[in-house]
Amino acid sequence: MTGKRQFPDDFIWGAATASYQIEGAANEGGRGPSIWDTFSKTPGKVLLGHTGDVACDHFHRYESDVKLMADLGIKSYRFSLAWPRVMPEKGRYLESGFDFYKRLIEQLHKHGITPAATIYHWDLPQWIEDEGGWSNRAVVDYYKEFAEQAFKALGDDVPFWITHNEPWCASLLSYGIGEHAPGLKDWRRAYRAAHHILLSHGEAVKLYRELGLKGQIGITLNLTPAYPASDSPEDIAAQQRQDAFSNRWFLDPIFKGEYPADFMPRVERFCGDLNVIQPGDMETISVPQDFLGINFYTRSVVKDDPADDSLISVHGVPTDNPVTDMGWEIYPDALYDLLHRLKNEYTDLPIYITENGAANADAIVNGEVEDTPRIDYVRQHLDAAHRFIQEGGNLKGYYLWSLMDNFEWAFGYTKRFGIIYVDYETQVRTPKASFHWYRQVIENNGLTD
Ligand code: FCB
Repeated sequence: MTGKRQFPDDFIWGAATASYQIEGAANEGGRGPSIWDTFSKTPGKVLLGHTGDVACDHFHRYESDVKLMADLGIKSYRFSLAWPRVMPEKGRYLESGFDFYKRLIEQLHKHGITPAATIYHWDLPQWIEDEGGWSNRAVVDYYKEFAEQAFKALGDDVPFWITHNEPWCASLLSYGIGEHAPGLKDWRRAYRAAHHILLSHGEAVKLYRELGLKGQIGITLNLTPAYPASDSPEDIAAQQRQDAFSNRWFLDPIFKGEYPADFMPRVERFCGDLNVIQPGDMETISVPQDFLGINFYTRSVVKDDPADDSLISVHGVPTDNPVTDMGWEIYPDALYDLLHRLKNEYTDLPIYITENGAANADAIVNGEVEDTPRIDYVRQHLDAAHRFIQEGGNLKGYYLWSLMDNFEWAFGYTKRFGIIYVDYETQVRTPKASFHWYRQVIENNGLTD
């Protein structure tokens, strides 16, 4: 679509990052190890043996980084809190672990940028993992304690809270598929982890209300719409399994207070009785929140795979559409469909796109980074978002992933998602063409081309 596409006056334009991916300073201020420190130092887990020890050194460079944000013109900045800075070992609480965030938040306010804090973006303290991590129910109390300390330390200055980033990744991808820390391939632990993450989300929302804080709190889910490879009943059933696995397992408990009944038998076949849901849990998980955050990157197209006796028994089918540097299909209509589905099937709550963006093989040439594919990607997704808003959709904001290139988990520093280029040798930041383009979008409050 072309022509002018104006967003609502109060639309929140933002950018996002996460603690382990940018902060570095892994051994400063008494920080303890997280599961990502352990994982990234385990040979073979992260590409080229990269770690987050130094990352973008944002811990020391936050002041100039906030200046770049101000130059970009974002209204809000989404970052996450490193739990191991505050609870480095069992029984030890370091209030000073919040000092860095206090300084960062002060700078943000100074530049009129609203802080949006994610409580958990995957850097679980290693000592908690040693007790079973997210698959052990004790983690819920530890998380509550961390959330309470965060609310008390920062709650007056942060009006926007995200309890969890992408529970699917933190549970199924991390404890089941084994691609993320702690790198286990154990579906039983993975599904137990998913339940405890959701439960801790509900507990944090309740706590936030009890403390009488005045901001908004919600969760961020990564949703990957599934499409069937054909109209055959087998492929449609495959699509439903994929959807239950990727999306409904998290949406249903939060908005309907139950796990998808159609998929539960498969989960139990591979995990045995999960033995995880206690009385009151589903009420806690579905406690009303203030908004839904969604991270959107791509979709899946799936085909039934009867020969594959696994949890979902499907295989992905490639399409002819272009892909990003992650190999993820670019299909913005899936974002549009997803937004409508959320509205029709799940919620009227305000929705925020808390992450969207693209990896691109960027390089500095004559002092500039021409990342046209990223600009195209973001433009197309903003277009889809705009169509949804025009049709009455309650979409309130968009956070581009990511403000700067950073540690892309199992891919280390080999994938660049930033609109600011980071030279990891020198830590020099170079705003890319997409930075300048996004600044225009924000200034115009919409798309003009
Ligand atoms: C999401 C993560 C984020 C980033 C992007 C590319 O799954 O939340 O930290 O790695 O993917």
